[in-house]
Amino acid sequence: MAEKGTRLGVAYYPEQWPRDRWHTDARMMAEAGLSLARLGEFAWSALEPEPERFNFAWLEEAIEILHDEGLDIVLGTPTAAAPAWLIERHPGVLPIDINGRRQGFGNRRHYCPNQPAYQAATERIVHELATRFGSDPRVIGWQIDNEFGGRCFCDTCRNAFREWLSRRYGSVENLNASWGTAFWSQTYARWDQVPLPQPDPWDSNPGLALDYRRFMSDSYVHYQRLQANILRAESAGQLVTHNLMGFRFGEIDYGKLAADLDLVSWDNYPGLSPDASYQSSALAADAMLGLKRKKFWVMEQQVGSVGWARMRSPEPGQFRLWTYQAVAHGAEAVVFFRWRTARFGTEQHWHGILDADGGARGRYRDLRRLSVELRELAPLLTGRSSIGHVALLHDYDSRFALQAQPTNAALAYEETMQRHYEAMRSLGLGVDVLVEAAGLDRYRMVVAPNLYVVDPDVAGLLASYVAAGGTLVLAPRTGVKDRFNAIPERPLPAFLDALCGARVTDYMSVADHEGATFGDDGSETFEGEFRGWYEQLEVSDASVVATYRDGAFAGSPAIVERDLGGGRVIYLAGAATRSTLDHLYRRLAHRRGLTTLELPWGLEVVRLDGTSEGELLVVLNHLARTQRLALDGFRWNDHLSGSAGEGSFELGPYGVAVLEGIRLAPASPTG
Ligand code: GAL
Ligand code: ZN
Repeated sequence: MAEKGTRLGVAYYPEQWPRDRWHTDARMMAEAGLSLARLGEFAWSALEPEPERFNFAWLEEAIEILHDEGLDIVLGTPTAAAPAWLIERHPGVLPIDINGRRQGFGNRRHYCPNQPAYQAATERIVHELATRFGSDPRVIGWQIDNEFGGRCFCDTCRNAFREWLSRRYGSVENLNASWGTAFWSQTYARWDQVPLPQPDPWDSNPGLALDYRRFMSDSYVHYQRLQANILRAESAGQLVTHNLMGFRFGEIDYGKLAADLDLVSWDNYPGLSPDASYQSSALAADAMLGLKRKKFWVMEQQVGSVGWARMRSPEPGQFRLWTYQAVAHGAEAVVFFRWRTARFGTEQHWHGILDADGGARGRYRDLRRLSVELRELAPLLTGRSSIGHVALLHDYDSRFALQAQPTNAALAYEETMQRHYEAMRSLGLGVDVLVEAAGLDRYRMVVAPNLYVVDPDVAGLLASYVAAGGTLVLAPRTGVKDRFNAIPERPLPAFLDALCGARVTDYMSVADHEGATFGDDGSETFEGEFRGWYEQLEVSDASVVATYRDGAFAGSPAIVERDLGGGRVIYLAGAATRSTLDHLYRRLAHRRGLTTLELPWGLEVVRLDGTSEGELLVVLNHLARTQRLALDGFRWNDHLSGSAGEGSFELGPYGVAVLEGIRLAPASPTG
């Protein structure tokens, strides 16, 4: 955590509120302990009411008022919401969907990132903003646009895609060979014959489908860079960021997007989706941390009820709990969304710190209390970071390729990652989510549950990790595709079969509730189950950890392990159930000398390290009832409540504790 502790802020849209209210707002923000305000995103029509007539006076005034109350400013570039005049002048800016329909005006994100007219208008407004505020010390950073996303299929994108392909492949012959266009007579003689993806997602050549996704992702990376370059040219040390959307959003390669930013920030709405859980936000936070292997900001954090059609309300205490969760996972700043509930627009359901009438009620009181609490915690949290015991590999090519051919629900990218992540986190292990298979040596274990696309370079990095003594876990459908989304002419798991000492000889894709079970085949009992997908293995140089009891491959190996003198590779030949993974990771963690905790559903522990005082445990109870953390043999001291004790620890509904001085001794390695 940063020297001054966690900074708190809020999204503020002065252009949506009467000017005579701004002073009151600023004063109330300061009184509530906020020190950051994000302004300007979506304000294009107020900043440039007519083409090239700029009006920044109101923004100047708002900045001054806020800064007078001690708030630092993050300015958003307003490009997520193009004004009506721009669309009227350049209707071609509106994106076209895969069925050829043009999006209308009236929402936001209604632009194609590849349109020259849009890029030119972007350059103008960003340049004006940057020259005006780039050396303004009150403005400490920039947020480029808002939540990039959306695909376009316009003619400009079609041409840009062809250029992108020609840079990638060099010659049409090379593209033909890589995509295998002999299939169904798709051989191209010229770049301008190459189509965009078909409306039916399964109709496109897989090579084309993957490349188009990469191209669209690169289009946003490029569009962001265009803005970042202008901002940096004028800026005096201001941070440049973009607000990303956590882990679940899978359209943009966030590794590449983050590479151009000083800092990753992201938007966290834990109560928006009915199927998300506290573990979804935890995974999102760890995925955001992993993009630059560096602490992040939460640029938008839900504070109250939200929902487009149906409104969902957080429980009392969750606002505080979510903030602590973000801080524990590595947030240096948490910016709440939004200051005041909107009176107008489609976000009338999004409750801010204040109500729509301007009233300061429960959420305002909660915020005041929280900011005092966090300030008191600052000395304790300074210099601490969550411990990464395990690296979980997040591979965008694999994710994109599986979007094009999902294969079986049991292999779904996000859910598989989530399942492995949860199993490890429920054992109290810190999981770093990485987008590159580099720098793995510091992890006791590396888990790659979804490495569908593999190339010899990645395989080489994994092999070196194992050779250096690491434990690598691989799961089914590893190495099924090469970088062109073609099937390598190699036994599966391609490029990794030798490392595993086993190869896949057959597989079964079945319904979700079907699968195969396995038990031990020797002294050690390892029971478990694969569902939806399981494979047959032929072992050349590995030991069998579990043998199928039933299913199509009864009697053959279900999990194998190869010991390479310290290093070890485990191959799971099927989509393992959660309890199977719990069992597996408990066993592997103990072998690697990692202490585990047994955390019930709803109880989260984030272990922080960084000083000689032992670990700091941030304990988060995500349920409406009291839960118990077994800490047998430990003396604990809760910095938040001031209580101390020994042995198991109880935490009330939606409660948070920060336990000091715990030394989780390593378990004795068992081999
Ligand atoms: C984010 C967005 C905000 C607001 C919020 C509502 O996606 O950045 O502008 O729309 O969602 O959930
Ligand atoms: Zn387009």
